[in-house]
Amino acid sequence: MNEQVAKLLNEQINKELYSAYLYLDIANYYDELDLDGYANYYMIQAQEERDHALLFMKYMQINNLKVTLEAIGKPDKVFSSVLDPLEVAAEHERYVTALINNIYHEAHQARDYRTMKFLDWFVDEQMEEEENADSMISRYKLFGQDPKGLYLLDQEYAARVYAAPSLVL
Ligand code: FEO
Repeated sequence: MNEQVAKLLNEQINKELYSAYLYLDIANYYDELDLDGYANYYMIQAQEERDHALLFMKYMQINNLKVTLEAIGKPDKVFSSVLDPLEVAAEHERYVTALINNIYHEAHQARDYRTMKFLDWFVDEQMEEEENADSMISRYKLFGQDPKGLYLLDQEYAARVYAAPSLVL
C-alpha cells in the first residue's frame, strides 16, 4: 500500500480516539450540569468514536500494515454554557470530515480503490455526524433557552441507545 495512505490511516486511529476523549469530556461537563440526557448522548458518541478507531485499526491489520498507537491529546476546550460543547462538537466533526476527505484524496491519487471503498462508509457517516451536530445546535437555540424546553430536549437525548457500527470488517 502507498506509504502516505498507510500513514494517514494510522493517524486516523489517533484522531478518532481523540474524538472519543473530547466527547467524554463533553459528557462529563453535562453531567456536572445535571443534564443527564446530553451526557448520555455524548457518552454514546464517545463509544462510536472508539468504534471508528477500531475500524481503522482492523482495516490496517487486515492489510498487513504496521499499526503504531500514539499518545492521545488532552481535551482542552473550556465550556461555559450549554451551547459551547455543541458548537465545539460541530466544528470538530467538520474537521474530521476534512481528515477523511484528505485520506480519500490520497487513496484516489494512489489508485487505492480498496481504501476508497473502505472510506465510503466514513464519508456517509460524516454527513450524518455533521447533520446531527448542527441539529443539536439549532434545536437548542429554538427550544433550549426555556427551562421546560431544555428539560424536554434532555429527556429526548436520555433515550439515545448505543448501536454497533453498520460497517463490519
Ligand atoms: Fe469518527 Fe465523529 O467521526
